[in-house]
Amino acid sequence: MKKLLILALSIWFSNGYSQQGGMWIPSLLKGQNEKEMKNLGMKISISDIYNVNSSSLKDAVPQFNGGCTSEVISDKGLLLTNHHCGYGQIQAHSSLQNDYLTNGFVAKNFSEELPNPGTDATFIVRIEDVTTKILKGTENISSLEEKEKLIQKNISETILNSPKESWQENRIKTFFKGNQYLLFVVEVFKDVRLVMAPPSSIGKFGSDTDNWVWPRHTGDFSIFRIYADKNNRPAEYSKDNIPYKPKHFFPISLKGIKENDFTFVFGYPGYTNEYLPAIAVEQLVNQINPARVAIRDAILKIQDEYMRKDPQIKIQYASRYARTANYWKKWKGENLGLIKTNVIDIKKKNEKIFQEKAVKNPKYASVLAQLTEKYKEYEPYNLAMTISQEVILRNNDLLINAYKINDLAKIYEYRGAQSFTDRKANLLKDIEDIFKNYNINVDKDVFEKSIVIYSELMPKQFIPEILSKSFDSKAITNKIYSESALVSYDKIKNLLSGTPEEIVKKINNDVGIKFVNSLTTIFYDKVMPNYQKITSEINELEKIYMEAILEYSKPSDRVFPDANSTLRVTYGKVKGYSPSDAVYYEPITYLEGAMEKYIPNDYEFDIPEKLRELYEKKDYGMYGYKGKMPVCFIATNHTTGGNSGSPAIDAYGNLIGLNFDRVWEGTMSDIYYSPDICRNIMVDIRYVLFVIDKYAGAKHLIEEMKIIK
Ligand code: ARG
Ligand code: GLU
Repeated sequence: MKKLLILALSIWFSNGYSQQGGMWIPSLLKGQNEKEMKNLGMKISISDIYNVNSSSLKDAVPQFNGGCTSEVISDKGLLLTNHHCGYGQIQAHSSLQNDYLTNGFVAKNFSEELPNPGTDATFIVRIEDVTTKILKGTENISSLEEKEKLIQKNISETILNSPKESWQENRIKTFFKGNQYLLFVVEVFKDVRLVMAPPSSIGKFGSDTDNWVWPRHTGDFSIFRIYADKNNRPAEYSKDNIPYKPKHFFPISLKGIKENDFTFVFGYPGYTNEYLPAIAVEQLVNQINPARVAIRDAILKIQDEYMRKDPQIKIQYASRYARTANYWKKWKGENLGLIKTNVIDIKKKNEKIFQEKAVKNPKYASVLAQLTEKYKEYEPYNLAMTISQEVILRNNDLLINAYKINDLAKIYEYRGAQSFTDRKANLLKDIEDIFKNYNINVDKDVFEKSIVIYSELMPKQFIPEILSKSFDSKAITNKIYSESALVSYDKIKNLLSGTPEEIVKKINNDVGIKFVNSLTTIFYDKVMPNYQKITSEINELEKIYMEAILEYSKPSDRVFPDANSTLRVTYGKVKGYSPSDAVYYEPITYLEGAMEKYIPNDYEFDIPEKLRELYEKKDYGMYGYKGKMPVCFIATNHTTGGNSGSPAIDAYGNLIGLNFDRVWEGTMSDIYYSPDICRNIMVDIRYVLFVIDKYAGAKHLIEEMKIIK
């Protein structure tokens, strides 16, 4: 009886009914994935999703500005993405007088749409496997360095020689840790204008308290439009550009979703690490994540205090605060999930099974043991790298600028006057931008706290003299902030004027630069060389380990390549979950829930009056469902950072939602996906349209769309 049950269960599993998780390459879905997707309820075919000979869904899913996903929703290039993806653009157009972050924005016609220099939307034209070309000649090279050089050369040549149109670009990315290479022919549109943004009290409702948390009630969307030249091709911004005519755009379904409905998500997941050995997960849980969290804990506290007191600082720091808080919170959730799910033990068990097979093959027999040894060696360098990045390169403008200017001086030394002058011009532009959102008091407090934490967390052997034993952080900070040129744009401009020799001399004499120099000297001498050497050794071992995993796997093991910011499909079902004993979360939220969270004038949970009125009158138009307004829903799609703004699609290829987050208990899915607790969070497309139409009164945008009732 028991045997029968196991048999039945395994047939059920291998049928794909519960087989979810994974981020799949859209050009390779035929076969296993297709079968699973159909089993889960998909009604369209794979060639409707990805097709190079005729238009398909992929033609409506551009990457948004490198880090997010977006989708085209009209034949005039109307583009939907998250509010948090367009946040920087909305902020750039905002001022205390015209505060689009707070009040929202609607362009009433094409001429009111706001250009965003530097923002782009990138479409995939086609994907090709170029593995043999890239690995050609590398088989018998034993030196890692030589091998890497040849691979880079093969990549450059293949990019240069692969056919494409003059307005397109070739890009190559590696998959399965160097075991596969794919070429992407892309079109990069550079004229992307802001069309509409809801107020933050809708688009960012719940803000950081609700971030990474279910149940959620955020209308996390914003709308842009892609413009093209008169031939419908990519072009820099010009007032003569015209709205882009896409090969495909998403019809929008108002039919709604219910538990167990099939959904899939199409987008550009950034980075996952699903094949880490147990020891690396252990280091992540015990060292890396705690260090990152501790640093950001302190910095966020300082910024938050200033932002609450001063509305000007609040606008200036809003975007970077959100960015810093986002991963701070994610790493906390990730650690909880990894621990609770016993991922280290699961990995150890799987490694045992792997090893039983691997011993029989000399090529793979020792790879896991070697990898484990390497990770042990890696530990202090990886930790030092993490801390340096967080402290020097991320959170404090003085240190960031000092680091960059220091680099500039080195360029003169190594590459001469011309490189120096070119780089200087670019650098000044960057620095000018940084100072637009700078407040010296905030920066100073962050600096002082940062150097204290640096001295506490950094492995002893990497701490410079000036921060060893007891040092007076206040005195150091005061001296630097009163004497260094790095505290204002004008002073920096002044510092960087004169002949290259004069500039380099001034740079080397600045107290701020001297300070950062004392940190980076040790870093470059003692951390960097070892970090790089071990990283490339680990990469090589991981390539072999991955090759073995692929060799030992059956299709039903569903081995997929880690995310690498390329276009992927992930699929699953609308589903609630049970994160702990006696707790069950329903998969759909309604506006009622937003009202339950409503706190008048709170910076996270305020609700605009107009929205409250619509709620009181239940004035939901064609977007409501049984007298209620659906807001967000969750499903088992395996997503990560970069999937923000991704279309959530129904069985027929229609748009039903917009991905924007994951649930707290499941953020560990970047390392290990568990179908029990990993869920992606989407805003229901009906809520998006309701806000556009009923709240913002932008009927003209609704009329552009193709709506399925
Ligand atoms: N957690 C989501 C993501 O990773 C939303 C981030 C929005 N930022 C925020 N601090 N609320 O992008
Ligand atoms: N909010 C994330 C992003 O910006 C998506 C959520 C996630 O990491 O799953 O891409």
